[in-house]
Amino acid sequence: MQVVSSRSDVRAAVAAARRDGLRVALVPTMGYLHDGHLALVDRARELADWVAMSIFVNPLQFGPSEDLDRYPRDLERDAALASARGVDLLFAPTRAEMYPGGEPWVAVIPEHGADRLCGASRPRHFRGVLTVVAKLLGIFAPDVAVFGQKDFQQATLIRRMAADLDLGVDIEVVPTVREPDGLALSSRNVYLTNGDRERALALSRALEGCRSLFAAGEVDAEVLRALLRRSLSTEGIELEYADVVDPETLQPQIRVGRGTVCAVAARVGGTRLIDNVVLAGISADPA
Ligand code: PAF
Repeated sequence: MQVVSSRSDVRAAVAAARRDGLRVALVPTMGYLHDGHLALVDRARELADWVAMSIFVNPLQFGPSEDLDRYPRDLERDAALASARGVDLLFAPTRAEMYPGGEPWVAVIPEHGADRLCGASRPRHFRGVLTVVAKLLGIFAPDVAVFGQKDFQQATLIRRMAADLDLGVDIEVVPTVREPDGLALSSRNVYLTNGDRERALALSRALEGCRSLFAAGEVDAEVLRALLRRSLSTEGIELEYADVVDPETLQPQIRVGRGTVCAVAARVGGTRLIDNVVLAGISADPA
């Protein structure tokens, strides 16, 4: 695996891959890799011949009181994991390499879908995500870029950006990888104490509850929302949102159907966690 930190090295490596007629995939990450990231690499490998990963903790997507400085980082370990998984090129730029002029003058600001769910408490977050992803897509010009379903609002907005701005890249979204007990993998899980980790299981259990209700025929979104709120109003969990939304418009649903997303965000201890499920079970009355 080639490890590079400059945009010009990326461009040279991508040009060489293209000369060899290879199809190029990009897996953008913020590092501190876990099996969820490695599942993105596996999917990228199925979709392309040459797989690149970026690792960049993007300051633009963190709010002033968020965890930018303490976000977990371990480039050496990440490089070993990426290489063992068959990544061809790892791009780990500095902040100055990505933002040579400091804060960019031009950013990608979503018109819709970014002010609710995670965007309600993180007002400039998706502006930061879309801007860095647009830059990465500009640097790599990949055929396909692969993201995780856990950040489903991010995935929806990135897909919209790629379509609305005609970026000429396929956006692939890979199901969330979970611990055996259901906890969604996240680099931020490292912040959880043992007690927090136990309490955090309430998120995936509540979402599983929605899946079961839907499979049993429940199509009233308010019933699912109430289940989420009830399950997550327990000591040690500070619920931020629990919603049942359309995956494309991100708007709250009245009746649910296949593809509807049940999504939650909550603070457990000091750690903000998000999780979601896509309803796909057999409903007696698909909406
Ligand atoms: O999902 C992430 O890890 C980040 O938001 C991304 C897409 C790499 C942009 O910084």
